[in-house]
Amino acid sequence: MVVASATPKRSEKLQGIELPIIDLSGERSEISKLIVKACEDYGFFKVINHGVHQDIIARMEEESLNFFSKPVAEKQQAGPANPFGYGCKNIGFNGDIGEVEYLLLHNNPLSIAQASKSISNDPTKFRSAVSCYIKAVRDLACEILDLIAEGLWVHDTSLFSNLIRDVDNDSLFRINHYPSLVLCKDNIRDTKIGFGEHSDPQILTLLRSNNVDGLQISLYDGVWIPVSPDPTAFCVNVGDLLQAMTNGRFVSVRHRALSNSYQSRMSMAFFGAPPLHAKIITPPEMVTHGEPSLYKPFTWAEYKKTAFSLRLGESRLNLFRKSRNDLEDA
Ligand code: OGA
Ligand code: NI
Repeated sequence: MVVASATPKRSEKLQGIELPIIDLSGERSEISKLIVKACEDYGFFKVINHGVHQDIIARMEEESLNFFSKPVAEKQQAGPANPFGYGCKNIGFNGDIGEVEYLLLHNNPLSIAQASKSISNDPTKFRSAVSCYIKAVRDLACEILDLIAEGLWVHDTSLFSNLIRDVDNDSLFRINHYPSLVLCKDNIRDTKIGFGEHSDPQILTLLRSNNVDGLQISLYDGVWIPVSPDPTAFCVNVGDLLQAMTNGRFVSVRHRALSNSYQSRMSMAFFGAPPLHAKIITPPEMVTHGEPSLYKPFTWAEYKKTAFSLRLGESRLNLFRKSRNDLEDA
């Protein structure tokens, strides 16, 4: 049975670690080394001086707030998120529930234009804010992927970024709103699971939020590291596909978001994904005699189908790992 609005378990521990903050205005070869190290150690880091204009962010934030402050009945006209549009509490198709409402959009211009009609009273303005925001963050994601390829000494430094530059790329944009919780009896402050523990299935995620905390990452079972909010930075995290393409050298880290009774949190996530038919292959530079390729080749469509059939917290990438016999034959 699915328990709605679960609270974090009592046995969990919090660990106070500041994640790496990478200044993108620095020297290129230095930045690429720092990014690779952060992806290996945490699968998660923050970038500052990222070049995405503040007004692009502010416009997107304003449009999102306009939407979430509408009456429920009006918001529901943009739903259900099947798969795109407005969703409330239900995350995905397999019974995952959290204290969150969201808008899920495909980054394809036609799809954005269509969705804008039921989201905003001024669809052209909404569409323009989303398109500008997506273009800016997709460029940033590509830049980071090129730096990653350089830092890994992958010969074709556009190998990863070309997957999300492709006209048929399947990248998504998600705006999450975690309304502040009603205080419990006796005014006891409370936190609840807003978005349950998961890894992101795509290549790379760029997330930014307002100045309200709630995001946590887990490097070990049951131990959570709170990520301090910084509206001027982007949090970057490795997705399952990048873990596969780096032959497990990078980790697609598990994370979650909590909602609280202090303030509402709003986050915007761009998930960089390849075209559906793209084959996810580990480049030869990532495979050596001592480190044979860990994953079977698969397409993004195959991976997505598997992810959609499972609960949010499932470790889906394990299903694509080669067996011991496959490894010995290689
Ligand atoms: C997500 C996610 C975290 C947040 O949308 O995949 O992990 O802070 N969101 O909203
Ligand atoms: Ni996520």
